[in-house]
Amino acid sequence: MNITVIGAQWGDEGKGKIVDYLAKDADLIVRFSGGANAGHTIVHGNVTYKLHLIPSGILYPGKKVILGTGMVIDPEALFTELKTLEEQGVPWEGRVFVSGRAHIVLPSYKKKDIEIDKKRKRPIGTTGRGIGVTYSKKSMRDGLRLVDLFNPDKMSLMEEADRKFLEGFLVRLKPMLVDVTAYIQHNRPSRMLLEGAQGVLLDLDLGTYPYVSSGYSAAAGAALGAGIGPRTIDGILGVFKAYSTRVGNGPFPTEFIQERDGKLEHLIREIGHEYGVTTGRPRRCGYLDLVALKYACFSNGIDGLVLTHLDVYDTMTSLNACVAYSIDGEETTDFPMGLPELERAQPVLKEFVGWHEPITQVAHFDNLPQAAKDYIAFIEDYTGTKITIVSVGSDRNQTILRREPWTKY
Ligand code: GDP
Ligand code: IMO
Ligand code: MG
Repeated sequence: MNITVIGAQWGDEGKGKIVDYLAKDADLIVRFSGGANAGHTIVHGNVTYKLHLIPSGILYPGKKVILGTGMVIDPEALFTELKTLEEQGVPWEGRVFVSGRAHIVLPSYKKKDIEIDKKRKRPIGTTGRGIGVTYSKKSMRDGLRLVDLFNPDKMSLMEEADRKFLEGFLVRLKPMLVDVTAYIQHNRPSRMLLEGAQGVLLDLDLGTYPYVSSGYSAAAGAALGAGIGPRTIDGILGVFKAYSTRVGNGPFPTEFIQERDGKLEHLIREIGHEYGVTTGRPRRCGYLDLVALKYACFSNGIDGLVLTHLDVYDTMTSLNACVAYSIDGEETTDFPMGLPELERAQPVLKEFVGWHEPITQVAHFDNLPQAAKDYIAFIEDYTGTKITIVSVGSDRNQTILRREPWTKY
């Protein structure tokens, strides 16, 4: 039984928290896309873990995790992260493996990433982690894979500075290298969790191009990025926030604007602590965009939705969600392909009654206030997809399970 967890918006939906929660019952956790551009936060009581490259299953003692083929790996960032984990009391040796087919981010790629974005007329606002440069090298067939580090011919062709940089990691990387496909084939994990990074709207093909990342963060990327066949994946969970956020530039039809929404952006950002894990940038905030969510559900075949950050609305007497776009006076519920249309789209808002009480301690769905249940029911109806998990706080325990996740969807 294999489950994929993806972000159904523009990233930062709470994937790390949900993967950590589900990892309890998984034998193997494989991250399938992105690199150190991701920032996945996991909270256990008063301890917070911030992961960028390491799959979020690492916090369960003994669980094995793999950085998959679809990822781009910055060795420096990898060992810094492992050191931090160790300092936080998380042993990792013998449990963290890296696909030999994954590509390497070199220091010069990070510099280039920043330079290229600065020169753009309309910068993307990348994280500066060398992601786009590494994926382009991969597509150009000029990339460097982890397995190449142990190929003297390939290494001899490298620039002196790059070779020296990489040689510093060889001894530590060697025991971590794995053929992920062969590993899965031989070990036959009975429950495998495939962890995505970023989100559908940042996916290279499905997202708001060119304001996207360069990997395949959509569900279709999970099989390739983990090195398995798509039919071995039994369920796809799409994580989304009760509102929307976006870091970096690009279209965001439901973004709060002061003239219409007053202080909502400030309010949501502060209550939801909406600051980037990787860059510390304040996240742009907006209404829940059901047009975009419905698009994410269909284009990814999402079997179950995971609603997070519902508690952020606890103090509000009413809330809104976008149920259509108005573009040049025409209403549509289809997510537009074109950038100009997305930029001109005005959200058509539907108002919901707020529950106006704290829900952060609610452990069972039945105990949620009726207004929260009504909001959930509307989202399910609109998207045609069931909400199978509800998250009411950042802690692992603040999770309401509505359906056993490890069963056929
Ligand atoms: P990811 O990139 O999808 O893993 O998400 P991030 O870790 O970048 O951002 C999600 C943030 O929201 C983190 O700080 C989490 O601790 C926090 N979080 C996750 N779920 C909830 C929730 O249900 N409620 C609240 N208030 N915070 C949450
Ligand atoms: P997680 O996994 C939110 C955004 C960047 C930028 C664009 C391209 O934590 O959800 P890149 O450096 O990838 O070339 O930047 O994508 N971005 C993310 N936004 N969450 C992420 O990851 C992101 N990873 C990249 O801000 O707009
Ligand atoms: Mg994040």
